[in-house]
Amino acid sequence: MTNKDAYVIAIDGPSGSGKGSLAIHIARELNFHLLDSGAIYRLLALKAIRQEVNLDQENEVLPILDDFNIRFESGAELAVPFLDDEDVSAELRQETIGEAASRVARHAAVREGLLSLQRSFLKPPGLVADGRDMGTVVFPKARFKFFLNAGIEIRAHRRYKQLINMGLSANIAHLRADIAERDERDQNRSVSPLKPAEDALVVDSSLLDLTQVTELVLSHIRENV
Ligand code: DC
Repeated sequence: MTNKDAYVIAIDGPSGSGKGSLAIHIARELNFHLLDSGAIYRLLALKAIRQEVNLDQENEVLPILDDFNIRFESGAELAVPFLDDEDVSAELRQETIGEAASRVARHAAVREGLLSLQRSFLKPPGLVADGRDMGTVVFPKARFKFFLNAGIEIRAHRRYKQLINMGLSANIAHLRADIAERDERDQNRSVSPLKPAEDALVVDSSLLDLTQVTELVLSHIRENV
């Protein structure tokens, strides 16, 4: 199989919609590669915080890409993120890093600078890519495009459970407010805003669990591949 035959399954959606877990399940089921693009923005945000740069200044964030040494390793988890050879998976999941990622992700030149890195994840037999602009900007020719959504209360509750299960502290009211703020920023930025691609299948996961969403998405892929 060549790179030309490999195809992309794009899964976009807001924070807490369940797209990350869905992407992992689909990638495992089809034996595809995985791109967690949010993790790339989170890695950049972490490095920016460590270098104490102003996250809202594009000209301060952009130079970090010149020395952006990241990789994902497969182990028990599908993609363990490394920054400068350090496993930063625990730090990366924190809400503060998600918020910081949403801020560095607003800069047009930063997004442009991350395009080829993201596209390099496409290898045979194929790629499951999750994020905010996978189907609209990074892989506009993706063979399958899904947009996963869920009500804000449900998304806040899911994040709460995730954080508690990881042994981290969480407050549901704060989470809801953070998610609302992040939705607002991700949907209203001028470059690559969060929105469904015109040809995306929109799935509301409010009343579905992960197994049901995975089944729905997999059967759509199998019927149309
Ligand atoms: O999916 P996530 O919560 O890990 O993403 C963190 C932030 O990164 C999100 O609030 C916006 C940004 N992001 C983006 O702008 N584009 C992507 N493709 C993925 C994430």
